[in-house]
Amino acid sequence: MNTPVTPNTDEPLLKLLNVESAYGPIKAIRGVSLKVRQGEIATVLGSNGAGKTTILKTISGIIDPRKGSVEFKGMNITANDPALIVQKGLVHVPEGREVFPLLSVRDNLLMGAYTRKDRDGVARDIELAYSYFPILKERAAQDAGLLSGGQQQMLAISRALMANPDLILLDEPSLGLSPKLTKEIFEIVVRINRERGTTILLVEQNANMALNASDYGYVLENGRIVMEDTCAKLREKDDIKEFYLGMKEEGVRGERRWKKKKTWR
Ligand SMILES: Nc1ncnc2c1ncn2[C@@H]1O[C@H](COP(=O)(O)OP(=O)(O)OP(=O)(O)O)[C@@H](O)[C@H]1O
Ligand SMILES: [Mg+2]
Repeated sequence: MNTPVTPNTDEPLLKLLNVESAYGPIKAIRGVSLKVRQGEIATVLGSNGAGKTTILKTISGIIDPRKGSVEFKGMNITANDPALIVQKGLVHVPEGREVFPLLSVRDNLLMGAYTRKDRDGVARDIELAYSYFPILKERAAQDAGLLSGGQQQMLAISRALMANPDLILLDEPSLGLSPKLTKEIFEIVVRINRERGTTILLVEQNANMALNASDYGYVLENGRIVMEDTCAKLREKDDIKEFYLGMKEEGVRGERRWKKKKTWR
């Protein structure tokens, strides 16, 4: 973990420039600019309602931004169709997993590969997913809805891998999981990054896990990026230690917040 990543190119894999997205009158993100470099794990930290999910939905085309642009591999993908964005190599693991509960574990994995024609490659990638998460092999024929929350998270990450992506967007993989399971899942996420070279953008409330697993981090408050740095440096900042690592009631910009634990639904 935390080994510095040498980017393959100076041009970032993903670039957001002044992105603003809203739900009707509610501006959820306001002028967000960020970069994710090839081969790294980047993280966006923020509390409930900061706008983390909105950033990911805007990148993957689920929400069209009001302003700004999203660039992926040098292509402007702003407001593209989500299916087209997947085909370009960018896959979103949504908050709350959203596996297909009435399909088997194996069929869920195959759904992740629906754009691919290379059967051998798909078969290989199923085995790769099983090697990361052996429990999924044991449960291959079982309905995904019968898996535990943690196992569903494993399936959601594996389903994303089945698209053979260059970039995975991960929305709060720790949501509703025990600390032990969260740690296990983060370890696999880091392995996927190091072994497959998959670039990852992770959004989290669990600052501790996210800062340990990631190379570069952004802090989001009220829809704005208020701080960014290498995770090694962010971990040392008093504001981060005190607020995001749970020792103070104030954010970086001083606004008071409450911390609410979300649970697996
Ligand atoms: N579908 C929606 N309709 C209206 N407002 C929304 C909708 N989704 C999110 N919002 C609002 O947009 C803001 C950002 O929400 P978002 O879900 O992006 O936050 P988040 O950082 O992912 O929070 P959490 O950690 O709770 O998942 C919040 O104020 C939220 O209430
Ligand atoms: Mg969210």
